Amino acid sequence: MFARFRRKRLHPVLRDLVRETVLTPDDFIYPLFIRSGEGVKNEVASMPGVFQMSIDEAIKECEALKSLGLKSIILFGIPDVKDSVGSDALCEHGIIATALREIKAAHPDMLVITDLCFCEYTDHGHCGVLNPNLQTVDNDITLKNLAKQAIVHAKAGADMIAPSGMMDGMITAIREGLDSAGFSHIPIMSYSTKFASAYYGPFRDVAESAPSFGDRRSYQMDPANRREAILESIEDEREGADILMVKPALAYMDIIRDIRQACDLPLAVYNVSGEYSMLKMAARAGVIDYERVMMETLLGFKRAGADIIISYHAKEAVELL
Ligand code: PBG
Ligand code: ZN
Repeated sequence: MFARFRRKRLHPVLRDLVRETVLTPDDFIYPLFIRSGEGVKNEVASMPGVFQMSIDEAIKECEALKSLGLKSIILFGIPDVKDSVGSDALCEHGIIATALREIKAAHPDMLVITDLCFCEYTDHGHCGVLNPNLQTVDNDITLKNLAKQAIVHAKAGADMIAPSGMMDGMITAIREGLDSAGFSHIPIMSYSTKFASAYYGPFRDVAESAPSFGDRRSYQMDPANRREAILESIEDEREGADILMVKPALAYMDIIRDIRQACDLPLAVYNVSGEYSMLKMAARAGVIDYERVMMETLLGFKRAGADIIISYHAKEAVELL
């Protein structure tokens, strides 16, 4: 006697009936990179199909996204001017505050999330204010600025705030800031477990946010650490985050599963730039069936335990669903 698994694999309709995991357009968040200007839509060489866009182009893009069934976006800003603190991100007339007002006016039905960090806005490219003695980001001064940035975003119409800087205490600081300014209804999606990853390489071309010296290893996590990865998300849950995240996704499927089991909040994964570009470049080289590899990868995130997938593939994926 042995099990006949293949009996349920013969008829395609039966295969559909017994499928355990399905992707839907509701699972996805699509990243947009906003810069100043009009009619600007610059493709980035390292990420085919991904563009830096001016606000008018982003508004058009939202129309296209909605027609595909995509209703959630996350915004990244490329400011005209960078300085040591990242002032553009703290200003009501900065690139993201302006984009929020205009995009929400044109598309009130879209869920507009903002990435909350300083690396795109600082001249040194680090994720907060530098402490000259430590030669890296000063945690507690940066917390104050994160709270200010969150309030600027909320006032400009952000539907959800997504802090990505991996500062200790960032959820407490941002929650207190939002609540004290009358935004207790705005949720926080924390980049709660974020690793210091080489997979962010192409993103730093698009967002023009590579650090000018050193690296991010004093704030982002060591890819070798599993127990610490779980603790990072447990802490953000305790501090009042509404949604947790694992980033990157592909090399961290075990961590996605671990956090799914250790925490009760909804869990997002960030299918990052390097993961996207690897598939694009392999497709260009003619070595993979791009669409099948993409769908298998995205399905894998959901099977591992993700509820939400942030992905540059989102448009191509929903067209295939
Ligand atoms: C900013 C931020 C980064 C990404 C999202 N938010 C870059 C970084 O930490 O260097 C990476 C996204 C991607 O690679 O697609 N802190
Ligand atoms: Zn950053």
